[in-house]
Amino acid sequence: MATNSLEICTLRPFRISDADDFLIYAGDEKVTRFSRLKTLTSKEEAISQIQNVFIPHPYFRSICINDRSIGYVFFKPMSGDDKRRAEVGYVLAKEYWGQGIVTRVTKMAICDGFKEFPDVVRMQAHVEVDNKASQRVLEKIGFQREAILRKYTYNKGEIKDLVMYGLLSTDPML
Ligand SMILES: CC(C)(COP(=O)(O)OP(=O)(O)OC[C@H]1O[C@@H](n2cnc3c(N)ncnc32)[C@H](O)[C@@H]1OP(=O)(O)O)[C@@H](O)C(=O)NCCC(=O)NCCS
Repeated sequence: MATNSLEICTLRPFRISDADDFLIYAGDEKVTRFSRLKTLTSKEEAISQIQNVFIPHPYFRSICINDRSIGYVFFKPMSGDDKRRAEVGYVLAKEYWGQGIVTRVTKMAICDGFKEFPDVVRMQAHVEVDNKASQRVLEKIGFQREAILRKYTYNKGEIKDLVMYGLLSTDPML
């Protein structure tokens, strides 16, 4: 594990050349289990995901250490009348879990988001009920736990209950 990973991690847009590093964590079932991310098995899939999803996305940032991708954080403003809210998500390579990295970079992404998309007044995240680490991340940032959405989604072969979290632009960030 890198020392001082929290202090040296940075955010930048994805590049095709991140495919090998992306495949390391996107190919790990412990990482993808609670995420919408499909568990990847080839570099071609990694390149396709970066090219077709991450690069055209309005805000999809690679979490980097020494410029190498160890995860990602994104937010996606909705369209039309729903453009006032945005969905937040993140993933981190397992070897870096538990160092406060995602809490820190998600705060950075949210600050960027409220600045770059002034119409957005609400950030939200849907988290599987068993994903306690992700719930803790959101609570440490200042998100409020708003609702349980029963049998709301289907992921990795199972129907799941989700917890809905929300943070308004006027809420204090912790
Ligand atoms: C969820 C995830 C992003 C967290 O990243 P991280 O950098 O390890 O998060 P942080 O270190 O900032 O905070 C994690 C917190 O969860 C806590 N935590 C971890 N596992 C936990 C568990 N099983 N039960 C309760 N709390 C737990 C940690 O102790 C820490 O809280 P603390 O600072 O109060 O001690 C990371 O585990 C991950 O990538 N998981 C797989 C992908 C995923 O679930 N993405 C989110 C989909 S909604």
